[in-house]
Order: sequence, then C-alpha cells, then structure tokens
Amino acid sequence: MKLTILGGGGFRVPLVYGALLTDHAEGRVTEVVLHDLDDSRLYAVARVLDEQAAGVPDAPKVTATTDLDEALRGADFIFSAIRVGGLQGRAHDERVALAEGVLGQETVGAGGIAYGLRTVPVAVDIARRVARLAPDAWLINFTNPAGLVTEAMSRHLGDRVIGICDSPVGLGRRIARVLGANPREAWIDYVGLNHLGWVRGLRVAGRDELPRLLADPDLLGSFEEGKLFGVDWLQSLGAIPNEYLHYYYFNREAVRAYQQAEKTRGAFLADQQARFYEEMKRPDAAALTAWDRTRAEREATYMSENRETAGAGERDADDLSGGYEKVALALMRAIARDERTTLILNVRNQGTLSVLDSDAVIEVPCLVDANGAHPVAVAPLPDHATGLVCAVKAVEREVLAAAESHSRATAVKAFALHPLVDSVNVARRLVEGYTDVHPGLAYLD
Ligand code: G6P
Ligand code: MN
Repeated sequence: MKLTILGGGGFRVPLVYGALLTDHAEGRVTEVVLHDLDDSRLYAVARVLDEQAAGVPDAPKVTATTDLDEALRGADFIFSAIRVGGLQGRAHDERVALAEGVLGQETVGAGGIAYGLRTVPVAVDIARRVARLAPDAWLINFTNPAGLVTEAMSRHLGDRVIGICDSPVGLGRRIARVLGANPREAWIDYVGLNHLGWVRGLRVAGRDELPRLLADPDLLGSFEEGKLFGVDWLQSLGAIPNEYLHYYYFNREAVRAYQQAEKTRGAFLADQQARFYEEMKRPDAAALTAWDRTRAEREATYMSENRETAGAGERDADDLSGGYEKVALALMRAIARDERTTLILNVRNQGTLSVLDSDAVIEVPCLVDANGAHPVAVAPLPDHATGLVCAVKAVEREVLAAAESHSRATAVKAFALHPLVDSVNVARRLVEGYTDVHPGLAYLD
C-alpha cells in the first residue's frame, strides 16, 4: 500500500508516520512518498522519520521527491497537507485583517477567506492531476480551510476526496470523558461545517447523556469548551460548539486579544518552525528530540489568546495529544480493509442538511467502509446555527467562484458577506491589502 503525502516536508508529517508505525496488520501502508516544493524541508522531515523508524522492522519505506506527478502515480492514498504561501503567508492573513479590526485567523473570517483564495487554485490543480494520474486513489484532505478546500477538490474527484479535522474528535472525546463514558462506545451527534459545528447529543447505549452534562455546572465547567464558552452560554445554547465558534460568539474579545498579542499565531509558528528547520541542517542535530520539543510547545500554545480572554487557563494534559493522525489512520484502514467504522468527516452533504444542496461539503458523522464515507442522518440544526452555516457556505461558494473566474469583485463579495466582516468598505480594503502582500492572489483581476 502506497501513501503519498503532499506537503511532505510539513511539520506534522511525523505524527502521521508515527501512527503508521503502530500498524502491523495485513494491508498496512508499506511505502510513504513525501512530496514538497522545498528540498530542505523534505530532508529535515525525512531525518525525523528515520529516527522514528529505528528499531521498527516493518517500518514503511520512505522516499522523497519534488516532482508532483511522480509522487502521485501509483498512490493508493494521498494525504494533502499543503500550506500555500507558508507560515509567513498565514502571518500576513492575520495582520491584514487585524489592521482592519476584523478577525485574522487561518480558517475563520477574513483570514480564512484570504487563505482559501490562495489555496483553492493550487488544490484544484492537484485534484485534476490526481484524477488523471491516480484515478483510483483516495485523497484525504487536511489542508485548511479544510471544508472549503475539500469542496473545491470534490468538484474534480467526487466522493474520492474526504476532508479531515481533529477538532470534532477531540470535542467528542472530552465530552465522553467528563460524562465517564468510553469515547469508542459513544455516538456523537455533531454536524455543521468544518470549524463550525455543534455537538447536540452524545448517546451511550441508546441514551442521550448530554442533558446530564448541560444540567451540571461543575461538570460543564470542567473541560475545555466549558471554560472557553462559559457554563451559562453552553446552557443557553443547549449544545456544545466546536472551539472555533469562540471566534464567532466572542468575536470582539478574540479580535482584541489577537491585536494585542506580541505575535499572531502564524508569526509565532513561522519563527518557531524556522528555528526547527534551521536546526535540522546541522548534521549532529537530534532530529526527533528537536521535533518533539517544538511540537509540545506548539500544542501547549494552541488557541492561547482565546483561552486567555476566557480565563480558561492552561490546556488539559489529556488534550495535548491531538488526534489528527489517528483520524487519518482510522479512515485509511476503514477504506483499505473494509473495517467499518464511524468518523466525523468532511464530505458532500447529499441531503443530510436539507438547507444545503447535495454538493455542499459539510462536517458530519460518516459510516466508512471500502466504498468510502457515507454521511449519516442527523437532526436538523436550530435556526441560529443554520443561519451561520448557510452564511459561511455562501461565502465559501463566492471564494470558489472567485478562484474559478479570477474576479476581484467576487473576492470582495466573499469578504463582504462574511458574518465577521462588518462593512463592504472593509471587504474592499481587505482585498487591496491581501493582493498587495500575497503573490498567490495575483490571479485576481
Ligand atoms: C486544530 C485544528 C487544525 C489546525 C491545528 C493546528 O487541530 O483543527 O485545523 O491545523 O489545530 O493549529 P495551529 O494553530 O497549531 O497551526
Ligand atoms: Mn481543523
């Protein structure tokens, strides 16, 4: 089984490889091809993987290339985890928005739109190549903004592209844990768009345990989302939102905290990772140790400004181990070996949410087997959530239209329609600001 990783020089590749190393069963991945535009990043990551594989006799063989078509040919699975414009681009996405007084975040609000406008054309090019060179491969998209990018690719790959994110899994795991339930045995009623979903129920042996959590302020205040959103607000909502909804429900505070931060998240990661990749150039560097130290710091500081405005304190030690690689591995195993399972994934709606058309990519529990991911029926969202989902999906559609038509006016429309952008004039200035700093937006005319 051959797995190709696009963005193979990326920092989180060792997480994926670490997960592969735990899989010794028949039909596992035996070959990993790393693709990246940057040779030195490939070299750095390959060093870490090499140290990880030490002492594992059946470790997947790793090769690296900067030739995209070569990387795609013969792949059974393709992970796409690219970052168009790099972390410097992410820092620009944040700065330009914050200077206008609106949210600059990788996936939410103006920053997410800018990142989407840059990424969609590249993702579409990849999807077209995959359709031509590896038509039977499954493409697992991690590239953010994951829902939007998955939808862009699905127009060329249909249901062979599946988007993943670890935030719903982490959320479900936390809720199960505080309820004393086994996350594996819990059915999590979650739906929305990527980074814009709500848990409305958690069933164990057919019984919804969420009301018990919502009724208990102590339990509710004891985990990440309770601390972030506050007990009262969760009780008002009657649901537990994805942590990214903090940017909506506490937008003013989040924008202010981001404006006042010494460094934005993108700038922080750009510096942190530059140091890591620099260190990897030293022949005597302990690659795995340096990577692990950098990873731990990244995880500990995740959403730290949001937590600070909410007075939420440090992250729980149990929340630090991500889970992104586990979702990826579980998905691959389910497809490759027909090991049926349920995972929350980004797939085409196909009637699941009646307010959206069938091609709209949503985030929803799916039954996964050798035939792919099949969304399951879920209860409709309440009006306030439907409103946000529809508004943000409309914005995503404008981003896709702008990328296809190269229309600057459509790009302005995308920003202007976003619920977190408060004036058409702001949207116009955002497009100016972003096209000034991003060569990847030169296609807009
Ligand atoms: C969560 C999100 C991902 C994001 C990751 C890392 O897992 O769901 O979409 O890529 O955090 O965030 P960071 O700010 O560290 O890049
Ligand atoms: Mn995510």
